Amino acid sequence: MFGEDHSSFKDLFPRQMNIRNCRIIELPRIVDSRDGIISVAEARRHVPFDIRRVYYIYGLDYFHSIRGLHAHRRLEQALFCINGSVRIDLDDGWRQASIKLDRPNMGLYLGAELWHKMGGFAHNCILLVLASDYFDESDYIRSYEEFLNLVRSR
Ligand code: TYD
Repeated sequence: MFGEDHSSFKDLFPRQMNIRNCRIIELPRIVDSRDGIISVAEARRHVPFDIRRVYYIYGLDYFHSIRGLHAHRRLEQALFCINGSVRIDLDDGWRQASIKLDRPNMGLYLGAELWHKMGGFAHNCILLVLASDYFDESDYIRSYEEFLNLVRSR
């Protein structure tokens, strides 16, 4: 389903993605020289939705951990790898793309009806997710076949 050629960083971080319902988000960096950097995400400014939920994923294993493998019916999310790196494979039902997140201020807007899979986690990866709604299992599409039928029936 997903290509496995993840050769160069440039290819993995396209500004324009030929996939529906997703795009790169670049957060500001407020650099305080030796005192570090602040990056900030404000709802409806940097992130195109109101944020109802924040969760983060950690304790990952580069060789074995795979997450995602679903799409959402309505939920919108913004993913930021605030430590380490992760590869995200995307599929809108017609086209596939992979991106690598490895900078704390660079994120991915992940809209509805996008099949996604996360893997290739650096051992220290922390993936921060901002979500437009509360957790709701009925919003998940966990069958790839059901996902394809839904998006291709549009
Ligand atoms: P899931 O969203 O499938 O994880 P991922 O996409 O990262 O692989 O969620 C895994 C489990 O965690 C599932 O049983 C639901 C639960 N969960 C919650 O209870 N609340 C949440 O906000 C999230 C994201 C997951």
